[in-house]
Amino acid sequence: MLQLENVTVRFGGLTAVNDVSMTIGKDDLVGLVGPNGAGKTTLFNAISGLAQPTAGRIGFDGIDMLRMPLHRRARLGIGRTFQIPQPMHQLTVRENLVVAQRFGTGKVDRAHIDDILTFLNLWDKADRDAATELALTELKALELGKALATSPKVLLLDEVLGGLETAGKRHFMDTLRRIHERYRTGILIIEHDIETIMNLCRRVCVLNFGSLMADGAPAEVFRDPEVVKSYTGGAHA
Ligand SMILES: Nc1ncnc2c1ncn2[C@@H]1O[C@H](COP(=O)(O)OP(=O)(O)OP(=O)(O)O)[C@@H](O)[C@H]1O
Ligand SMILES: [Mg+2]
Repeated sequence: MLQLENVTVRFGGLTAVNDVSMTIGKDDLVGLVGPNGAGKTTLFNAISGLAQPTAGRIGFDGIDMLRMPLHRRARLGIGRTFQIPQPMHQLTVRENLVVAQRFGTGKVDRAHIDDILTFLNLWDKADRDAATELALTELKALELGKALATSPKVLLLDEVLGGLETAGKRHFMDTLRRIHERYRTGILIIEHDIETIMNLCRRVCVLNFGSLMADGAPAEVFRDPEVVKSYTGGAHA
């Protein structure tokens, strides 16, 4: 289980994440919402090791991760995607998955890569150049595949559904549900579309100005007037 205790991240005078505590279990599929600039991506960076908290604790299955380098966190089971898909240049789709797998697990398991390629409908594109030859949905599938290749116990998904039209979104949501069940991973997903969160998650966390303002069932959280106000009132300048 991923455990955050009073995590704060500051950039100079700006508090991007403010005293956030939450737990994500292996059976959880949790939405993370909040206005632009609320600190959602920074929270992911703090968990995966790209941003250093100024205060607080981050643990996984009781192991303190706070000072661990990125690859050790990945090996403990933290997988993530990036808001802007970043395939490695001049590598094929399959090679991208292999590099991600080696980073996340320290070894190469070709059968698992084949399984991911099939599962994400990328089999026909396996030998294409990832950076130049993929359509948006395929890029997004690859981004997900790279995270899956690290054999995560908890997946942090940063707006993986963003930019997809309705049918594509529905298909991707179904894929996420199947990942959650098939690979037995906990999922924390950043997503702006409230309807998507209501459909996908039984729990949602709301960040506003870096602070966790709600953590509960979507139907209740989105009825909270303070949450509604945060959506219409904006965030950091
Ligand atoms: N490396 C950085 N240096 C300085 N400020 C940063 C850095 N990264 C993020 N910030 C600031 O921290 C705040 C939170 O940014 P963050 O990217 O975490 O928001 P977000 O909730 O992911 O927003 P969005 O929905 O637009 O992706 C913003 O004010 C942002 O400008
Ligand atoms: Mg973000």
